[in-house]
Amino acid sequence: MKNSLKISNIIPPFRKKINIEGDKSISIRWALLASQASGKSTSHNLLRSEDVIDTLNCLKKLGIKIKFSKKSCQIFGQGLNSFNYDKMISLNAGNSGTLGRLILGLLIHSRNIIKLKGDESLSKRDFYRVTKPLEKFGASFKSNNGKLPLTIVGTQYPRPIKYRENKGSAQCKSSVMFAALNTKGKTIIKAKKSRNHTELLFKYLGIPIKVTKRIGYDLIEINGRRNIKPINYKIPSDISSSAFFIILTILSKNSELTIKDVNINPTRTGIIKILKIMGIKIKISNKRSYKGEKIANIYVRSQKKLKAINCPTKFNSSTIDEFLLIFLLAARAKGVSCFKKISELNQKESPRLIWGSKILNKMGIKTILKRDSIKIYGNPDLKIKKKILIKDYLKDHRVFMTSVVAALTFGGDWEISDKDSIKTSFPSFIRKIRILGAKIR
Ligand code: S3P
Repeated sequence: MKNSLKISNIIPPFRKKINIEGDKSISIRWALLASQASGKSTSHNLLRSEDVIDTLNCLKKLGIKIKFSKKSCQIFGQGLNSFNYDKMISLNAGNSGTLGRLILGLLIHSRNIIKLKGDESLSKRDFYRVTKPLEKFGASFKSNNGKLPLTIVGTQYPRPIKYRENKGSAQCKSSVMFAALNTKGKTIIKAKKSRNHTELLFKYLGIPIKVTKRIGYDLIEINGRRNIKPINYKIPSDISSSAFFIILTILSKNSELTIKDVNINPTRTGIIKILKIMGIKIKISNKRSYKGEKIANIYVRSQKKLKAINCPTKFNSSTIDEFLLIFLLAARAKGVSCFKKISELNQKESPRLIWGSKILNKMGIKTILKRDSIKIYGNPDLKIKKKILIKDYLKDHRVFMTSVVAALTFGGDWEISDKDSIKTSFPSFIRKIRILGAKIR
């Protein structure tokens, strides 16, 4: 198989401290907002992954000057609605739903037609979920059934809107928030709870935003067309990338790991709450605040006994990118675990709920998979002896990395295709796995 990774040995015990790369959601949001600020914004520890580089390339095409070196990234914003580009341009969002959906919010003013395209995986994903609310501002879209490629023509006179976000999607919420930035008047969003990095950045920048917390949803009010000051930011480590190493450590033998400076924003840390319910000890230390975000060090060690979980649905949004890893814990746990109302997983880079079930079945774990739920019959004694092939998964980075964690902890003879998929979110993943002592080819 082309470009595959082969793993035939579980990882030997390790005791290490590691750093993880910058948070993807914050990196993309920082760059998009910096493009709207008046003046030079600088970031350190910006994630150097394809999703973020695609973001910078889209902004460059829109006339924004950017300097990106090993040490820092500088974006020279020229204020709200100051994109400057040729008549018919084409932007490529690559693999990134966050980039594709959020940037549309900044384009509702475009005078000319802008085309937005993406890779094979992104072209299968739903864009109606953002084009429908953005149309209410006055922008026009053409697409084939809400899929990429699409075109947008903006409006010179956007109207503020009232919008109800009921999927728990931070991408939908943020796309509308970005459109509100450039729209005179008050936009009101009633949003099911989801990651709130955009809200925190807006608040930090002094953009007029009011967030009222209600049971199950947030009411967000934004007054647009206020000048944005430059944003200097040190991006914290990504909890979703850290999660691969957290679960690897828990499922390994006699191992310990400390990860430093991880973003532990409560809208992202469903995984920590789920680990606690499953009887897993995890230590969070040196907690501090940074520009509205919360940061801490995380310590975990191997854990022999795991409890099955009937996962409360209130954790779904704050765990959305970590479910594949939680499924591996459920595979090792004693008893049957149950996860409900998670059909959104099938809207990701691959149909991830289906892939989660497939990986477990290949490992010899029984699952009952429905449209929006899964039951996992754990087996604490599972030791895989057979050959397992993982391929044709639309190069979903999280399917790849989850399979690597499974191979290094449950045994078996694995071959996993498309190792380049890690470039999307976590380019140093394989190098870091090797540093811990894993033997992989
Ligand atoms: C993201 C939001 C989530 C998440 C994705 C990143 C973001 O998607 O799965 O990896 O940065 O806003 P949804 O908001 O569509 O659930």
